[in-house]
Amino acid sequence: MRALTGIKPTATPHLGNLLGAIAPALALQEKADAFYFIADYHALTTLQDAERMRQYTREVAATWLALGLDPARTSLFVQSDIPEVTELTWLLACVLGSGALERAHAYKAAQQDGREVNVGTFLYPVLMAADILIYDSNAVPVGKDQKQHVEMARDMAQAFNSRFGEVFVIPEPIIAEAVATIPGLDGRKMSKSYGNTIEVWLPAKQLRKKIMSITTDSRGVDEVKDPDTCNVFALYKLFATPEQIAALAERYRAPGLGYGHAKEELFQVVEARLAPARVRYEHLLAHPEEIDAVLDAGTRRARTIAAGVLARARQAVGFAGAPRRAVM
Ligand code: ADP
Ligand code: TRP
Repeated sequence: MRALTGIKPTATPHLGNLLGAIAPALALQEKADAFYFIADYHALTTLQDAERMRQYTREVAATWLALGLDPARTSLFVQSDIPEVTELTWLLACVLGSGALERAHAYKAAQQDGREVNVGTFLYPVLMAADILIYDSNAVPVGKDQKQHVEMARDMAQAFNSRFGEVFVIPEPIIAEAVATIPGLDGRKMSKSYGNTIEVWLPAKQLRKKIMSITTDSRGVDEVKDPDTCNVFALYKLFATPEQIAALAERYRAPGLGYGHAKEELFQVVEARLAPARVRYEHLLAHPEEIDAVLDAGTRRARTIAAGVLARARQAVGFAGAPRRAVM
């Protein structure tokens, strides 16, 4: 089985990205031939600042590695190092009706708010389908918000195959249901667009401060509390062991626990999980040549597969150019 996923380098990674996208993908690398990439072509639809693009690309690569991506087994690369993807985007664009793109979430939302979007944003789902199909991917681990895009990739693969023969593998989305939506500081979905994120690599002191700013109701220490409606507890459940979760739930239901105490417990479990990886992350950012060596090896593996699948697709549509191009 081949697994593939991408993360856009548009911000410093937050706990929603970690639990919703990175951790489930890392769990898959044990049993799949995994290809994970940094989606800079996609990022360019919104991030148009070269220095930040470079910075976030390094940060996302270091994040994957610090959290346990095994470069011996999993290929890590940058999307724009595989330009074959943009050519496949064109082939797929020609078998897709524009109605499907008009119905895509990001475009529809922009239309409803009366915002004009660039053509890259309109074509976003086609580029994403090319990403998936060009590696013969079977499984695509993504957060719930990306499910529609993977379904569109399936539709494009099927449309292409029925017109030109069996060229593409039909991919399946893999959604980590247990952690489907990670709540942010205010209880809404953690997202950089809501400004309610907890960044993965905050130094311990700042991490603690962020956790202390989580919104709670105004119940005092002596009042009993409901763990099931509490933003602090919702995050705690994602990091603590079943025993720790049961113990803290019991303390919520009895007088004597203030939200400050609950937040301290949350800080302790998050810090325990992140501290060792933070050391690796900081080491990698200080040694970019180590990141580059991993990306170079990943690019070679990814590009070999991409070139093969693209050649298949070109042949299927009747482009006879490959040998002629070689002579030029
Ligand atoms: P943001 O919402 O902050 O812009 P992205 O859209 O860049 O985050 O998300 C990158 C990946 O992380 C996607 O696969 C997405 O599904 C996942 N993800 C982001 N936020 C969350 C969240 N709050 N819960 C679960 N998964 C998330
Ligand atoms: N669109 C995805 C996101 O915003 C990132 C992405 C780009 C991706 N190409 C992909 C995810 C291919 C999975 C497969 O999170």
